[in-house]
Amino acid sequence: MERWEDHVAVVTGASSGMGAAIFESLALAGFIVIGLARRVNLIQDIIDKQKPDVASRMHAHYCDVRLPESVDTAFEYINSSFGGIDVLINNAGIIRTGNLIDMNLTDIHDTIQTNLFGYIYWSRKAAASLIERNATGHIIQINSVTGFYVPRNVGFSVNAYPISKFGLTALKDVLAEELNLIGNRNIKVTVSVF
Ligand SMILES: NC(=O)c1ccc[n+]([C@@H]2O[C@H](COP(=O)([O-])OP(=O)(O)OC[C@H]3O[C@@H](n4cnc5c(N)ncnc54)[C@H](OP(=O)(O)O)[C@@H]3O)[C@@H](O)[C@H]2O)c1
Ligand SMILES: *[C@@H]1O[C@H](CO)[C@@H](O)[C@H](O)[C@H]1NC(C)=O
Ligand SMILES: *[C@@H]1O[C@H](CO)[C@@H](O)[C@H](O)[C@H]1NC(C)=O
Ligand SMILES: *[C@@H]1O[C@H](CO)[C@@H](O)[C@H](O)[C@H]1NC(C)=O
Repeated sequence: MERWEDHVAVVTGASSGMGAAIFESLALAGFIVIGLARRVNLIQDIIDKQKPDVASRMHAHYCDVRLPESVDTAFEYINSSFGGIDVLINNAGIIRTGNLIDMNLTDIHDTIQTNLFGYIYWSRKAAASLIERNATGHIIQINSVTGFYVPRNVGFSVNAYPISKFGLTALKDVLAEELNLIGNRNIKVTVSVF
C-alpha cells in the first residue's frame, strides 16, 4: 500500500465497466488516480461515493481518446497538476455491430481510433513521462482474447474489433522492444486479456 502512495495512475474509459472498477481499486490501493472519459459526470459519481480520504486522491477529467489534441490537453493537465504518469491503464474500448464488408465506415474508424490509436496516443505520453523522469512505472494494455484469435461460428461478426485488438498485441511488444533499445529497465509493459 505505502509503495504506491503519491504515485500517479491514469485510467482511460473510467466512466463505466472495467475502467470504473480499476479507477476505484487504484484509489483504494493508495494511488493518486485520474479517470478519463467523455462522460466526466459518471466518473465524478464514482468519486462522490468514496470516503473523503479516498475521494481526495481521485480526479475526473475529459478525454476523447480518438483525438490526439484531446489526449494532449488531458496529459498537460496531468503533467502540470500531478508531475507525470507512473502507471497507465489503457482501457477505453468500443465494439460496433455490423459486417466489415458493408457497415458504416464511421463505425470502423471509431473502433480503430478508440481501441488502437487511443492506446498508442496514451502509451506515448506515459512512456515519455516515465523516461524523462527515469521513473519506475507500468503501462498496461487491456486487451481481449480477440487480440489473439478471431471468433468463428458465433453467429455474428466482430468486424473491426479484433483488427484493433490484434494491433494491441503488437503494440505491447513494440513498446517493450523500444525500451530495450534505449536500455530502460524501469518501465514494464504488459497486456491483460479478458
Ligand atoms: N466487456 C467485455 O466482455 C470485454 C472483453 C474483452 C475485452 N474488453 C475490453 O475491456 C475494455 C473495457 O471494456 P468494458 O466492457 O468495461 O467497456 P464499457 O463498459 O463499454 O466502457 C467503455 C469505456 O470506454 C470509454 N470510451 C469509449 N470511447 C471513448 C473515447 N472515444 N474516449 C474516451 N473514452 C472512451 C467509455 O467512456 P465514455 O463513453 O464516457 O467516453 C467507457 O468508460 C475495452 O478495451 C474492451 O475492449 C471487454
Ligand atoms: C454513418 O454514421 C454516421 C454517424 O452515426 C452518420 O453521420 C452517417 O450519416 C452514416 N453514414 C451512412 C452512409 O449511413
Ligand atoms: C511535463 O512537464 C515538465 C515541466 O513543465 C516538462 O519539462 C515536460 O516536458 C513535460 N512532459 C511531457 C512528456 O510533455
Ligand atoms: C535510472 O534509474 C535506474 C534504476 O532506478 C538507475 O540504475 C539509473 O542509474 C538511473 N539513470 C539515471 C540517468 O539517473
